[in-house]
Amino acid sequence: MGWESMWIWFLFGAVFAEVQAGERLLNSTDGMNVLFIIVDDLRTTLGCYGDAVVKTPNIDQLSSQSVVFQNAYAQQAVCAPSRVSLLTGRRPSTTKLFDFNSYWRVHAGNYSTMPQYFKENGYVTMSVGKVFHPGITGNHSDDYPYSWSIPPYHPSSEKYENQKACKSKDGKLHANLVCPVDVTEVPEATLPDIQSTKEAIRSLHSVKKHNSSFFLAVGYHKPHIPFRYPKEYKKLYPMENLTLAPDPHIPEGLPPVAYNPWMDIREREDVQALNVSFPYGPIPKHFQLLIRQSYFASVSYMDAQVGQLLSALDSLEFTNTTIVVFTSDHGRNRNVVVELVSIFATVSELVGLPVPPDCPESSFHIALCTEGASLVPHFNVSDEDDDELIESVAYSMYPRPSDIPQWNSDRPDLKDIKIMGYSIRTIDYRYTIWVTYNPTNFTPTFQDVHAGELYFVEDDPNQDNNLYNRSMHDALSSKLFAFMRP
Ligand SMILES: *[C@@H]1O[C@H](CO)[C@@H](O)[C@H](O)[C@H]1NC(C)=O
Ligand SMILES: *[C@@H]1O[C@H](CO)[C@@H](O)[C@H](O)[C@H]1NC(C)=O
Ligand SMILES: *[C@@H]1O[C@H](CO)[C@@H](O)[C@H](O)[C@H]1NC(C)=O
Ligand SMILES: *[C@@H]1O[C@H](CO)[C@@H](O)[C@H](O)[C@H]1NC(C)=O
Ligand SMILES: *[C@@H]1O[C@H](CO)[C@@H](O)[C@H](O)[C@H]1NC(C)=O
Ligand SMILES: *[C@@H]1O[C@H](CO)[C@@H](O)[C@H](O)[C@H]1NC(C)=O
Ligand SMILES: *[C@@H]1O[C@H](CO)[C@@H](O)[C@H](O)[C@H]1NC(C)=O
Repeated sequence: MGWESMWIWFLFGAVFAEVQAGERLLNSTDGMNVLFIIVDDLRTTLGCYGDAVVKTPNIDQLSSQSVVFQNAYAQQAVCAPSRVSLLTGRRPSTTKLFDFNSYWRVHAGNYSTMPQYFKENGYVTMSVGKVFHPGITGNHSDDYPYSWSIPPYHPSSEKYENQKACKSKDGKLHANLVCPVDVTEVPEATLPDIQSTKEAIRSLHSVKKHNSSFFLAVGYHKPHIPFRYPKEYKKLYPMENLTLAPDPHIPEGLPPVAYNPWMDIREREDVQALNVSFPYGPIPKHFQLLIRQSYFASVSYMDAQVGQLLSALDSLEFTNTTIVVFTSDHGRNRNVVVELVSIFATVSELVGLPVPPDCPESSFHIALCTEGASLVPHFNVSDEDDDELIESVAYSMYPRPSDIPQWNSDRPDLKDIKIMGYSIRTIDYRYTIWVTYNPTNFTPTFQDVHAGELYFVEDDPNQDNNLYNRSMHDALSSKLFAFMRP
């Protein structure tokens, strides 16, 4: 999850995608390759989004040759449901996945995925690192063999990520949140994202040799917690230069149901030692700064990996024939409001494959269709000419087990879900209602509203001033209901 939501509650982590597709590519894209880079828990903490602190020269360089979406939103700000939604091109209400505990092909419908579609159209499809969320959500195989031509690659050093592997002041090893390391001293003398970059570059050499069209998905683990990163990146962010988040306090009008108590951060040994009170904290200021330093450093470390991967793409002379998609599973975010569920249709159109048809109202029995529209028609349109896009809306969902924050509020199992947040983001506002939900038949009761949120983002970009009240609710909810399929 986008951890900075801890301070600013982007419950529906706004995410972004950039698609390298200059005019040249759009004129003739048939047979183009795809490099699909997905970064875990990355918000728009990037130079190309105007962040003045973070150093991300490689991603900034990519963005300078790309279409960059300023307002791109995940359909659910939890790893597994977000990735399954993005990769199948269907919404969480259709994948029926709100937790980490089911495989959509047996639980919801036997939906095609984006890589599967490319594979069935003659591409060699490959998965390196965290693309699907590991575990049952991909049938313990990242949906191999359906989605991938060869078994997905996972870095061997991934197993140390959550182990006691961080040297602390007491000289012992701990399972900490903040974990800068000397890479020469860690087990196997490497880190997962370094291994994934090497493997992805090996894959590029292999497809070059075999002259095959490819869809290569590369999933980076950082900046997801724990912040286990090469310690030299810390030097980029001296503590004395860092500031607290712009709004480190809990907004007065925030309904408790919307609050995420961040259990995955609390369970780390260095955080436990702080005795942070449940659920609202606060975390000591010094540690807040340490977390920010670690996030920035982890982003720069990931940026360096992306740089190596893109320079291999270049030196193998793939750059002119490859569409690069760079996205995150959730984390803020041209002014167009877009959704990650649209990536499948967009990338298909960009390479010249038929765009999968729109799904009908009920699509559980249909293998190939999508609930996201291709964004290609908007690529060459200037913002001024694109007035109708101001009307575009992104939809997201987020489940809760209770009205008051509790131990499993940030990731309830399906059976424990009692409340569902339904949210729309337009160019002007973020509107959310939290309603009673029945996880047995996947049915919301829209009349039974537990709480609501409304933020006008131009005046309140960090969404601190909740203006929800009943009268506005009636007007705005019709927009939301018009979309929602129970
Ligand atoms: C792309 O196609 C358009 C319309 O056919 C043409 O005007 C333009 O010059 C082309 N651009 C390039 C870079 O070839
Ligand atoms: C699901 O779809 C895959 C790929 O399209 C197909 O091979 C498989 O037989 C299908 N499974 C079922 C149970 O229909
Ligand atoms: C999931 O994996 C198991 C074990 O490999 C396999 O037997 C089963 O058929 C897979 N499920 C589907 C729906 O393909
Ligand atoms: C590679 O494949 C393309 C398209 O299939 C073909 O036009 C080209 O001649 C091939 N190049 C080599 C070196 O085999
Ligand atoms: C830290 O701040 C000082 C004073 O503003 C500045 O000179 C220095 O370049 C900054 N260091 C980094 C690594 O940004
Ligand atoms: C946290 O609580 C433990 C046990 O009550 C205490 O020993 C420790 O000093 C506390 N640490 C801090 C940082 O307050
Ligand atoms: C890539 O395209 C650029 C601009 O059209 C061209 O100058 C360059 O030679 C091309 N590179 C390759 C390897 O085809």
